[in-house]
Amino acid sequence: MGFFIDPCLIRPLFALCILSIVFATSSSAAGAKTRHFKWEVEYMHWSPDGLESVVMGINGQFPGPTIRARAGDTVHVELTNKLHTEGVVIHWHGIRQIGTPWADGTASISQCAINPGETFVYRFKVDRAGTYFYHGHYGMQRSAGLYGSLIVDVAEGEKEPFHYDGEFNILLSDWWHKSSHEQEVDLSSNPMRWIVPQQQRECRLRGNEQYAPHILRVQPNKTYRLRIASSTALASLNLGIGKHKLVVVEADGNYLQPVSVDNIDIYSGESYSVLFTTNQDPSNNYWLSINVRGREPKTPPALTILNYSPTSASRLPNSPPPVSPRWDDYGSSKAFSNKILALTGTPKPPTTSDRRIVLLNTQNFIDGHTKWAINNVSLVLPPTPYLGSIRFGLSNAFDQKRPPDNFKHDYDVMRPAPNQNTTSGNGVYVLRFNTTIDVILQNANALRANVSEIHPWHLHGHDFWILGYGEGKFTESDVQKFNLKNPPYRNTAVIFPYGWTALRFVADNPGVWAFHCHIEPHLHMGMGVVFAEGVRRVKRIPNEALACGLTGKLLMNNVHK
Ligand code: C2O
Ligand code: CU
Repeated sequence: MGFFIDPCLIRPLFALCILSIVFATSSSAAGAKTRHFKWEVEYMHWSPDGLESVVMGINGQFPGPTIRARAGDTVHVELTNKLHTEGVVIHWHGIRQIGTPWADGTASISQCAINPGETFVYRFKVDRAGTYFYHGHYGMQRSAGLYGSLIVDVAEGEKEPFHYDGEFNILLSDWWHKSSHEQEVDLSSNPMRWIVPQQQRECRLRGNEQYAPHILRVQPNKTYRLRIASSTALASLNLGIGKHKLVVVEADGNYLQPVSVDNIDIYSGESYSVLFTTNQDPSNNYWLSINVRGREPKTPPALTILNYSPTSASRLPNSPPPVSPRWDDYGSSKAFSNKILALTGTPKPPTTSDRRIVLLNTQNFIDGHTKWAINNVSLVLPPTPYLGSIRFGLSNAFDQKRPPDNFKHDYDVMRPAPNQNTTSGNGVYVLRFNTTIDVILQNANALRANVSEIHPWHLHGHDFWILGYGEGKFTESDVQKFNLKNPPYRNTAVIFPYGWTALRFVADNPGVWAFHCHIEPHLHMGMGVVFAEGVRRVKRIPNEALACGLTGKLLMNNVHK
């Protein structure tokens, strides 16, 4: 149906993918269902931004197929690795995997990577409605394009606490012209070579290209739900629609106290639902624009069009794209984050905690290689996945020394460290089952003076309450300021430059769970920790999840006995 957009007006630098449009769903069959999927992961040619590349696709699609289920359903994905020379796993981001910790899809943590040619079955319950996604969790396979949407609708007969007439789904990602393998080598080399965004060249679009922006077609005077999730490797983003207010109603699968804003910030690992009403002049179209936050943008905004029926989609908006805050306007980012509060009825945090873990985030060197470290440990995952090694008591599978719950009292978070060297490790934070844990994420100065970055931290297996954000070094008196009344309940929380973020969660999900910065290059450089809780309670881990490293040997010995 090709339409023509004139030179260089639309530049989809981020693969801006509107995956599915579904109008008010109605379904017949009652009760929970099992949703079956048969997937093959493979490399294929694709043109995410006008330059043909090799991407990691699923069943010939990029991004991968959308999973749509209802709360209470079981999702069953039979995943075959067709990558020929590398392993693969898929993580279901935002799904807590209650009772199925081996299906969390984290290589070296919950399972062995699936070997080329082999098949692994992910079978888990989606217990709660919300906007989620999935992605590779081995090496830098997310940067290679391995991701897709996972949408859970409310259970049959249940209602959302808001009304809408139709919905759109956007999965945000950033695309890089270097392969993920080249990026891994660049990041690990001495000196480190940082990943650099490149300008895409093609800008004359007909509308049927693989990289053509998807148009949001709307009827006047209706309310739409826009689901947005960010699977970016690196970029923090801001999204706005010209002349339209956005009412934020959901974050990471939990409902929010509705709040009306002009644009939203979204960090890697987060998801939101916003409502907008098509109350503008229907003889015009409007820009939807996405800008980079927190890092000086090297690329123009990603744009698409909100197209009012019956106006032609090829008609360019007569008002400019919405302005988003300057990339380094952290004041507006903080103001936005502070507006995100839980809807009444959301589970409330316990009023006290049993243990506080303070995690200092620093950038360091190991033998001249740039790394990130948490309380002076840069995470390097072991060859035997923790879930099996802890379950079977294999004490030589990883460092038995527990990583520290705090950092040196006199550490100055505002300046580069006097000694910038660190060491790597793979010790585990063992959490007593059913206890309440506070985590204080403490940001600091990076290697260079006057640099401190944004880090969106994501927790597997749980949601946490975000009790507050603060500036500088966290002190005991900050506890007084914790929001225990309506803190947002989420799985991803950002720390701002030179600031801290306080989280609380209950260690009530038996398993081993990653907690890490969702910026993939940062995770690759060691920015994460591992939590283990109630592992003795974990029953019947499938052998396929254990068939490597020391648990693999254990399986073989059992067979030969
Ligand atoms: Cu979406 Cu451990 O990540
Ligand atoms: Cu980070």
